Amino acid sequence: MQTQLIHSGRNRKWTMGSVNPVIQRASSLVFNSIEEKNQATQNRANKALFYGRRGTLTHFALQDLMCDLEGGAGCYLYPCGAAAVTNSILSFVATGDHILMSGAAYEPTQDFCNVILQKIGVSTTYYDPLDCENIIDLIQSNTKVVFLESPSSLTMEVPDVPAIVKKVRSKNPNIVIMMDNTWSAGLFFNPLQYDVDISIQAGTKYLVGHSDSMIGTAVSNKRCWNQLREHSYLMGQMVDADTAYNTAKGIRTLALRLRQHEENSIKIAQWLSQRSEVKAVYHPALPSCPGHENFKQTFTGASGLFSFELKQKLTTLQLENFMNHFELFSMAYSWGGFESLILYNQPEEISKIRPNIKRKITGTLVRIHVGLENVDELIADLKAGFERLL
Ligand SMILES: Cc1ncc(COP(=O)(O)O)c(C=O)c1O
Repeated sequence: MQTQLIHSGRNRKWTMGSVNPVIQRASSLVFNSIEEKNQATQNRANKALFYGRRGTLTHFALQDLMCDLEGGAGCYLYPCGAAAVTNSILSFVATGDHILMSGAAYEPTQDFCNVILQKIGVSTTYYDPLDCENIIDLIQSNTKVVFLESPSSLTMEVPDVPAIVKKVRSKNPNIVIMMDNTWSAGLFFNPLQYDVDISIQAGTKYLVGHSDSMIGTAVSNKRCWNQLREHSYLMGQMVDADTAYNTAKGIRTLALRLRQHEENSIKIAQWLSQRSEVKAVYHPALPSCPGHENFKQTFTGASGLFSFELKQKLTTLQLENFMNHFELFSMAYSWGGFESLILYNQPEEISKIRPNIKRKITGTLVRIHVGLENVDELIADLKAGFERLL
């Protein structure tokens, strides 16, 4: 894959002889004859230059690259990860339908179900991502979509994806199974290989990798590709050519960057496990992470985002002392860039956004994204943070 990510999406048709694809900014694409116009119209869903909203050479290059990365029949591009999630779901549901959603999924994904899907008469049942035994009982005759996220946001549970897929298929093979695969960047876990239909990424994170663009991607198998593409198109989804270019550029170094994120994050996670202030470290590569066995069986590596729970719930003053003075870790909501980040959630905040999950967090939960800095300097920064708690 490391080699493929360097060479993929560089068909001469997209690069016109340069190393990178051309940046083709276009709304109108001009036809020289009626025949040319008719051909473009006929092939508009198949990488013909037809109209800006169907994509240009720059988008086609990125789509090829993503299909190679995640092994799909097609890749749709969206203006951000949230749009990739919501439009993928909307492409396969109608009023009266039902979906199954991970109760530990990214909070705005759950909010979309509670607000938008509810408004259009699509009901949602939340499942515990670690309880794959009972998932079959939650499937209804009108269930159209099962949505997975691995690992979960914040609490980092790693579900048994192959087992869940098998159970869903055994009950109803027509259900569309989709997964938010942002954490692995498509490099360490391949949902389509386990018969998931659509792999979604907030490309904003590791694909772009430099915290300077927003994009979403959905790579689909053959079965779902036509419907995903045509429905997303009807919902007006598109990303600009400069962002598509920036994303393809980011992916060239994805394997290299993630190897370093992995090495740094595991080293920090292990260091944190030894700290007396820490109750548990939720890093998928460590046995203390719920679902670690599933991680070991299906992932080929780990990225840089994980959480740890402190033994105590920090007071406001302690939080200020801890959070406000890091030299290398900044506070920010997005992640996946080259830089280290830190955020926290109090236990009651976690309970509020995880009403369907029984496992309880009792101490302050700190989420860090480990960047590409020198790892010993990052550890020294965290150590100074703990010393500020004394
Ligand atoms: C797991 C996950 N999925 C989706 C998103 C949404 O991505 P975007 O911010 O590009 O809309 C995020 C953003 O933080 C995320 O962490």
